Formats: sequence, C-alpha cells, structure tokens
Amino acid sequence: MRKHLFALGGASLLLGVSLLAAQAQTVPPTTPPDPPKFDAQGTPNFVGISDVYEYKALSEYHEPDFVKAFVDAGKLPPVAERLPKEPLVFKTANMPDGNGVYGDVMRHVIGGRPEGWNYMAGQSQGWGGIDIGTMECLTRTGPLFEIKAEELAPMPNLAKSWEWSEDGHKLTMHLIEGAKWSDGVPFTSEDIMFYWEDNIVDPNVSPLNGATPETFGEGTTLEAIDDYTIVWTFKDAFPKQYIYQMAYGTFCPGPAHIFKPLHPKYKAGATYDEYKNAIKPEYMNIPVMGAWVPVEYRPDDIVVMRRNPYYWKVDEAGNQLPYLNEVHYRLSTWADRDVQAVAGTGDFSNLEQAESYVEALKRSADPAAPARLQFGARTIGYTLYPNLSGNGWGEPDERQQAVRELNRNADFRKAISYALDRQRLGEALVKGPFTAIYPGGLYAGTTYYDKDSTVYYPYSLDDAKALLEKVGLKDTDGNGVLNFPAGTAGGADVEITVLANADYQTDKNLAEGVISMMEPLGIRVIANFLTGTQRDATEQSGKFDWRVARNGAELIAVVQNTVALAPTGPQISNSHRAGKDGTMDLLPFEQEMVDTVNAFIATDDAAKRQDLMKTYQKLYTENLFGIGLTQYPGALIINKRFANIPAGAPIFMFNWAEDNIIRERVFVPADKQQGYELHPDTLPGEPGSAGPVKL
Ligand code: GLA
Repeated sequence: MRKHLFALGGASLLLGVSLLAAQAQTVPPTTPPDPPKFDAQGTPNFVGISDVYEYKALSEYHEPDFVKAFVDAGKLPPVAERLPKEPLVFKTANMPDGNGVYGDVMRHVIGGRPEGWNYMAGQSQGWGGIDIGTMECLTRTGPLFEIKAEELAPMPNLAKSWEWSEDGHKLTMHLIEGAKWSDGVPFTSEDIMFYWEDNIVDPNVSPLNGATPETFGEGTTLEAIDDYTIVWTFKDAFPKQYIYQMAYGTFCPGPAHIFKPLHPKYKAGATYDEYKNAIKPEYMNIPVMGAWVPVEYRPDDIVVMRRNPYYWKVDEAGNQLPYLNEVHYRLSTWADRDVQAVAGTGDFSNLEQAESYVEALKRSADPAAPARLQFGARTIGYTLYPNLSGNGWGEPDERQQAVRELNRNADFRKAISYALDRQRLGEALVKGPFTAIYPGGLYAGTTYYDKDSTVYYPYSLDDAKALLEKVGLKDTDGNGVLNFPAGTAGGADVEITVLANADYQTDKNLAEGVISMMEPLGIRVIANFLTGTQRDATEQSGKFDWRVARNGAELIAVVQNTVALAPTGPQISNSHRAGKDGTMDLLPFEQEMVDTVNAFIATDDAAKRQDLMKTYQKLYTENLFGIGLTQYPGALIINKRFANIPAGAPIFMFNWAEDNIIRERVFVPADKQQGYELHPDTLPGEPGSAGPVKL
C-alpha cells in the first residue's frame, strides 16, 4: 500500500522526561491534541512518473487552425520546426478526460501586482499563477501529489534526464534539445549559466523565491559542457535532494538573450538596480518557456496572456499544448478570487483564507453552482517567526537589537507560546472542524510528522508570566507594559513590531490575534501590515522583530525545498540570516537543526530519514524556532466547464494548485466553450512590442 503523505503517525507518550522535570511549570509541555477529524475530498489516482509524460518524437504535430494560418502566411515556421527534436509528450491514459480540444480561457483573479518580468533579479510577477505559468524549471514537482511513494522523485522538465557519476559528486543533466523561447530564440545552456552565474551566484542579485548558491549545497558548482549538457559538482555524494530545488521556484531560468545585455557585468555603466527594474510590467511579449506569454497589461485591471507558439509540450496525438488559447489575471484582491470563482465570474481559486469557507461552501453546495469546490488536507499553516539574528542583519537600532536578544532567549519564546490560545485563534478565523492547534514545525498528518516528537506549550498565562519574570522583564514604571532591564534599550517599554501581509485578511486576523494575546502579558505588539511586495522586501532585508506568515511547502513534503527547514546557509532562512560581516550566530539548537537537515539531505535511507525528521521536529518545537499558530485545509475551486483536472489535486503540497493541475493540459470541451478570449486569433508579438499580433 502506498505510504501516503498524509498517513497519520502512531501515538505513544515519550516526551523528553528531562524537559518535564527541569521546569516547574503549572501546565507542563505536552504533545499537541489530535486535529479534529476532517476528511480530504477526492484521492489522487497514484501513478509512476513515466505514466504522466515522456520525451519522444511523434510522426505528426498539430496546432490550432488560427496558428496554422500564421504558418501558411509565412509569419511562423511550421509547428514541427518550432518544437524540440523530442517534445515532452503527455500521456493520454493519465489525462482524466483524455486529449483535449483547443480554445477558451482560464480567468484567474489575483491579489498581487506585477512589478516587472525580471524574476531572476527578484521582481514579483504578482503571484497567483502568473509566475508559475511563465517560468519553466529544470525539474517539476507540483504533480508529485499523484506519484506513488516508491517512485517519489523530481520530475524531468527542461532537464529531460540526468545521471550521477560513480562517486556521486557529479550530476550530468541533459537539457531538452531544440526547444525555443516564445520568440523563437533557442533555449540552451547559456540560459542556464546566465541564471546561475549572473543571478544566483552574483551576490548583488537576489532571485525571486530566494535561490542562493547554498540552495544547491555549500560549495556546489555548475558548468556547461555544450548547448544541451550541464554538470553539477557537489561536495557530498549523491545529494539527490537538491534536484527538488531545481523545480519551481528556485531553478527557472529567464531568457538570457533579453536580460544578459542589461546585466552590469555585460553593460557598461549599468547598475544592479537598473538591471532589476529594466523590464517593467508594461513591457509586453517578454519571451517565456511557459505555455502563455503576456500580451496586455492594464495596471490594477488585468494581465492577458496568449498561447506560446513555441511551447515544447504536446499530447500523444501530436497536438501542441496548451489547449487553452488565453489566460487572464484580473488584478483584484485574494478574497475577490474566492468570491468570483464561486460566482462563476472567475474560474479558479485556492480557497485558503479560512474566513470565507462557510460562505463558499454554502454557495457551492447548490447543484447549479458554476464551480466545484474540493477540500484537501491541512496544508495551510501559519507561524509567528521571531527574528533570531543577533548579528546585525537588517541593521537593528537599540530597541530592535534588544528585541532580537529577547527572541534569542528560549524562555522568552516559550512564554509567547504559552500566552497564545491557539484554539481561540483558529476559531476566530472559522468555526467548525477546519483549524487545528499547531505548535509549529512539520504538520500533523504529513509523512514525516511524529506526534511524540512534537512539543506543545499549551495555553497558560501563568506560565507565560512566570517565564517572563525569569527572563528579567518587569513593569518598572507601572504603566501596564513590561520594561527592558535598566541597562537595555534605556529600560524602555517592551514594544515589538509584527510584520504581516496586508493583502490577506487571514494574515491580518492572525497577527491581530497575536497582538491582543500579548496584551495581558504586558508586551506591546505593534502591527506592521504591508502590502505583498513591500512585506516581502521588508522580510528579505531583515527589518522586522516578529512576523506572522503563511508557511512554505518544506513543512508539508519535507523533500521539497528541504534546505529551507533551517538556516542552512547565510541567506536561506527568513528567520535567521547572516549579518553584514557574513557571520550567522546560530543558537546551539539551530546548529543542531542545520546538522539534522544536512544529514537528511545526505542520506537516502528511509529509516534514517524518519529518525532525522523526528529529531528535527523535537528541536524545532521544543525550542520554538517558529511559534506555530494554526493549521487548516484549503480547497480548490474550479469552474465546472474545465476538463482534465486531476482527482485530489491539493491547493498546496509540493507546489500550488496552479502547477498541480497541469494547466497546459487543461481544456474546455467544445460544447462548453465561452467567448472569453479578449484577443482571439492573435499570437504574441516581438519582445517589447505593444501587444499581440493578428494576421
Ligand atoms: C499566492 C496565493 C496562492 C497561490 C500562489 C501562487 O501566494 O495566495 O494561493 O495562488 O500565489 O504563486
């Protein structure tokens, strides 16, 4: 039987005895309560990786009639010449509704805003699937939710195959041969090397999603052998884990032919800032390897994308993908995404803000409702992260540095955890069996979760207060707020800012919950709620005391983005980064977490891996690297007219649902197609030109 990612861990009581004895708490730490029962709807049809796709030449290829007309008019090479020697071929047997037909649109609604198209230099495209749709990466992991456990491994993508040297230190990857960017320029190892050398490795550039050289292991190097062969050299032998990091979002090269000429290394006098911001969202027809190309942008209104005539994936009948001619991203709010998807004016939503669950469920229950709603497992989780850098990261002033010192004190972190009534926090979002008490670390219900290795400090104001006293915080001026000790920050009131994403109601509600629960402790917490891009920049630059944030995929699947489980490199963790001088000042338990994660990456042995993750969970939750808040399920809302939506596609696991549902294979049957195309019969124009082109 498949050992499912959400198999429940066994239960016995083995909490460290020493831990219980060492502290005279009135409410001792314990294991967390079991989450209320909530069944995910829909199970994936588990298959092997090669059941989903393979690379091979077919005897004939097809394209939509309107694209063929461009070919006939001499405006576009024939489809067979636009495709690689061996395109990626999706297998019909794995398509829930079989090979599709061309036409129609997926109308996304998003809460983000595009900053520009240079994601290699850190610009956000607005999230919500825009970036997932434009970026293609060396490997792919989104669809892994339906891969059998025994075959779990990153899927090929731009790298169509790879092999290890005998000693396991070298990994040779073969790139897809003859694939082209959406403007017809060949995709080669030059694109890979530009992304690696001049974006990841160049310390002046921070790619979106935070790839750094350490993301692929300390001391790792990469070189190109020829146009279609690259070789990685690793310090460890067989660190297979890094191949997961070559998927979305950390190894997705952009077009070197557009960006290289703008990079300071190649353009005399250019600054890094100019490089980052040169290609604004107004720049249309930016070359992509993804299925759709941006052809229209209206600020605060919409981004429209048309099919990429050079897309390098086909179905088994030789039909060039995608099936959908167009994709829209309405620039609105994340909450509006839910409302519109349920109402049928939008097509897709990751229902993830628990506040709207009851209403969305009610409306989708109507058989006449335009959209399907399907709940998955509890993979949405929030954590309160204290900034653990005592080394000057983010250039803290005196007060901020005093808070960092508090953050670095285990008793202080425990006090915060004790003061949080997680039951109430969850219920304030939504009543019912959705939210679960989340102490932090790996999520209950996932493969590597072990309840007995999970330390939970249950709600107890008395214990919280006693610990703060032990830390040396007293209300010396009697104003109801604790003061720093006389020698610290002038003995001022303990004021702490909490950073949260103002684009999401859930983020604000949880941060407000934290603020109010700190009040009875005498800790004044001040909201710093910023819109998405500003918040991300603030987090990246270390300018925060605390932050409430939605967690990444590493806490679900562990194998995806494993390095991010701990501060494994100077720039990897947003909770603890190196200061200006490059030093990390890791706390002893953080060092142990790093060692544990590195040991996990270095071994393939399943039993050892289970044990290592138990150690990790214990270190994390006992020492409160992050202070967990709540954990709950998300639901995929998708308009009923779409076909080929895989059963049991989660909104978030190895990646977001925009990748999990394999959008390039999604289609609308002919009798259900709507006239939603804003630019029918057009194709993307020249890079930088005004919009799509018509014959
Ligand atoms: C945002 C949304 C998620 C998902 C991702 C995709 O973070 O909140 O639901 O759409 O974008 O990048």
